[in-house]
Amino acid sequence: MNIHTYEKVWLVAAMVLIVGFIATITYGSVGLGITMVGDQQPTIEPSEISDDERFGEPRVEHVGENEYEAYVVAQTFAFYPDPIEVPANSEVTFYVTARDVIHSFSVVGTNINTMVIPGEISEMTVEFDEPGEYGIVCNEYCGPGHHNMEGQLHVVPEDEFDMTELSVDADDELELGDEATFNVTVENRLLDDLETTAALEIGDETLEEELTVAGGDLEETTFTVDTNDLGEGEHDWTVTVDDEEESGTLTVVEELETDEETESGNGDDDENDDGETDGGDDDE
Ligand code: CUA
Repeated sequence: MNIHTYEKVWLVAAMVLIVGFIATITYGSVGLGITMVGDQQPTIEPSEISDDERFGEPRVEHVGENEYEAYVVAQTFAFYPDPIEVPANSEVTFYVTARDVIHSFSVVGTNINTMVIPGEISEMTVEFDEPGEYGIVCNEYCGPGHHNMEGQLHVVPEDEFDMTELSVDADDELELGDEATFNVTVENRLLDDLETTAALEIGDETLEEELTVAGGDLEETTFTVDTNDLGEGEHDWTVTVDDEEESGTLTVVEELETDEETESGNGDDDENDDGETDGGDDDE
């Protein structure tokens, strides 16, 4: 049988392509571990995401030395948390689920790309060696806002990364002579201990307190300021811990307006300010 030369060339080329395709698919599934979404993770009821231990509060968690887990929720038309912040030189496992319809989680300029399906949890482990900022886009058509669905992934330098959260509980309004208290809570969500300084600035005063917050724990401290030192008026205050900052305003008045009649008996207060007596008259 005589086979034409061109016929032979095409036969061989077709065989090479077929073998090549099978080889790349095999390498992808065995070598690179590319799998279908949801193969490794249990399913999740989309209506129960808000109560879910992992996805109820989308966030990044520190789980080991240089190891992080990011719990991400995609919904029309945003990703949570946004931005996702992780340190450089880390290994991050993303767990992504959808609250409503099918989305995708694609980090532009990287090979991080997965479908996100309601009820399923997509898992990917990625190493970040260098700091950088990446856009996250949705590349599954998910509704009229699909083209606006985007997020940010920030890989920050290791020494700039922290997982410190600050909250301050402070008085809004006080009488002269009262003691103003600022209850400061510092939460350290890293596994390593955090040595830091909490600082309160109010008026000309700066108060500082050294704090050591154990990994995964929180520490409280209280600053007190004598309102006599501040004087009457509005005083802006700021509490800082590392890069975290919280601020507010404390108003100090000569006498607070109260609903109940109180015998304050402050005999040393000789000044008679007409404006302040109005409140007292209304109560009677
Ligand atoms: Cu979400 Cu397109």
